[in-house]
Amino acid sequence: VEGGVGRGRIPDVAVKRLPVYLRALQDLAARRVEIVSSAELARLTGFSSEQIRKDLTYFGSFGTRGVGYHTDVLLERIRRVLGLHEDIGVALVGAGHLGTALARYNQGRHQHVHIRAIFDSDPAKIGQELGGTVVRDVRDLERVVREEGIRLGVVAVPASEAQAVAQALCQAGVEAILNFAPVRLEVPPGVQVENIDLSLALQSLAYYAAADRPPSSKGRRFEP
Ligand code: NAI
Repeated sequence: VEGGVGRGRIPDVAVKRLPVYLRALQDLAARRVEIVSSAELARLTGFSSEQIRKDLTYFGSFGTRGVGYHTDVLLERIRRVLGLHEDIGVALVGAGHLGTALARYNQGRHQHVHIRAIFDSDPAKIGQELGGTVVRDVRDLERVVREEGIRLGVVAVPASEAQAVAQALCQAGVEAILNFAPVRLEVPPGVQVENIDLSLALQSLAYYAAADRPPSSKGRRFEP
């Protein structure tokens, strides 16, 4: 199937780089740049051009030596590999501080990934409009997710509720979850979980900011 080109064969680490390429290519396309070299893509994305050339061969996209890649062709190719050539509906669970920010950010921004349903358990929030979508009762999650054919879930509920929410999403047939709650979710095999944890990221960055760290060998520290 053309839509499934290379899916499942591309290493996870490479899959994570594809949206970065996509964003760079979208910028190039918007500026009507028709041909792009791997060197230019490297400059735009921060990955090495060797890495880029290797990644792009995973799904059979070869540049022309000395010329480069056709921006539009590559753009379409990556969209297809990621499955973004068709609309992907997202279910957001938790319409609190983070959920509100995510819903507003998503509104009208991403062409093919839309928050199609928002759920909460708080009666004060159910029925309210958020980022162009009405917040629904989480008790309707399974039915709505099935009816709407939603395959991606976002967990933005308190940590204590996250596992139960993930379970409901999986039961409803969701295939991937973006988890913002600071817990490790148990999901059935085949469900992909991506964790985003701001506190963990800040804590590991603290290593670089710690006062007793020697200045890095790369000399990034400002020395007057
Ligand atoms: P919040 O308290 O503002 O919002 C949580 C929402 O979830 C509320 O609207 C609440 O009614 C709803 N909720 C609670 N139980 C539910 C259930 N069983 N089903 C459906 N909805 C339910 O909290 P906030 O700040 O939005 O944080 C949400 C989660 O995201 C927390 O786990 C927090 O630790 C995490 N977080 C993660 C960040 C990150 O960068 N990873 C940043 C901020 C928060």
